[in-house]
Amino acid sequence: MLVLRARVLSPIDPNTVRFLDDALVVIGGTGRIVDVRPPDGTPVDADLRPGVLTPGFVDAHLHYPQVRKVGAATGPLLDWLEGEIFPEEARFADPEHARHIAEVFCRSLAAAGTTLALVYGSVHPEATDILFQALDRAGLRAIAGPVLMDEHCPEVLQLPPDQALPALEALADRWHGHDGRLQVAVIPRFALSCSEAMLAGAGRLSRERGLLATAHLAENPEECALARDRFGTPDYLTIYEQAGLVHDRSVFAHCVHLSDSEWDRFAAAGARVAHCPDSNFFLGSGHMPVEQVERRKIPLCVGTDVAAGRTFRVPRILSSAYDNAVAVGTPVDPRRLLWWGTRGGALALGETRVGSIERGMSADLVWSDLPEWGDNVDCAPAWLLFDHDAPRPHRTWVRGRVVWDREGGGYPW
Ligand code: GUN
Ligand code: ZN
Repeated sequence: MLVLRARVLSPIDPNTVRFLDDALVVIGGTGRIVDVRPPDGTPVDADLRPGVLTPGFVDAHLHYPQVRKVGAATGPLLDWLEGEIFPEEARFADPEHARHIAEVFCRSLAAAGTTLALVYGSVHPEATDILFQALDRAGLRAIAGPVLMDEHCPEVLQLPPDQALPALEALADRWHGHDGRLQVAVIPRFALSCSEAMLAGAGRLSRERGLLATAHLAENPEECALARDRFGTPDYLTIYEQAGLVHDRSVFAHCVHLSDSEWDRFAAAGARVAHCPDSNFFLGSGHMPVEQVERRKIPLCVGTDVAAGRTFRVPRILSSAYDNAVAVGTPVDPRRLLWWGTRGGALALGETRVGSIERGMSADLVWSDLPEWGDNVDCAPAWLLFDHDAPRPHRTWVRGRVVWDREGGGYPW
């Protein structure tokens, strides 16, 4: 049993958070929270005050082979991919390189307070297996897979469906459901890097094996026009619909340039948005129309989108989501932002056991600094999300096990 004394900030629903200025969080041997209660004389293992415990953050979209390209300011999207990203991802044919970066990547997630992530690999199945090994050792929760690419990209990054899909199945055999923490995702990178056969195979695999499917969608106007042209469809979403990739286990990153009709069909299918505002700002991709999502009650999660996004820290991304929402005229409350980055994000990824500090939930937690005066339910979420000068979190736990300790861990790389 582990007993932590701390301030506690946790979402209750999309509009409500709970803030306790002084509480005990009691964690059982199985890594579940067994109680959250006022201090009552029970001996504590650690007193974290004036620091705050929140649920671990959920990063619903980022790229493991892009760690070394954070800050490569060479957008827009298609130029950045050709010039910076594809050559970098080609290096993951080398298992030594993959091993090194996989370690850095996992440390970067844990140091940022992220306990659950949806991760795109490179095209290489072996490099993705190496990523799973690193995630397993790091103790993190993740849903990951290699990106599927077989057209219109450098030849060294193309893997035809008859090799890529069996390799993905083998990864699913090995890792899907591993230790209750790891899952395998089907990831056709985006329409422009996939043939029709690849997309159809990806849709089939996702449905047959019940695997989460994820892809980039409508991030950049030039990408949208090229995709429509190449597939001869009236809009972008049709390409994924025809492949059976739009369903209630689909997560689409960006969704900046969709029509009303696409939004209607997206919502009707039960698909989810991974909102990546910092990446959208950095590559000049545009603003995500939050009201289209909210009006249709589409589940929303947020993604750092490293490396087009410039940070592993989900609170920074939530701050960018605020800026995006202001820019499109629909400001969003910090409580809702916190929901997107924790419990709401987890639910959008289909994970029900994490994302809030309540009895019965998994003890996936982060200990962050909070000024003494951030002592109420209005101030605390705002400070946590909007104080860009705040240091990295002190400590991160998954299932009550420490996966990162700032004092012992140094800088992730
Ligand atoms: N679209 C296709 N690939 C990528 C990628 O790696 N990053 C982003 N932001 N968009 C993409
Ligand atoms: Zn991305």
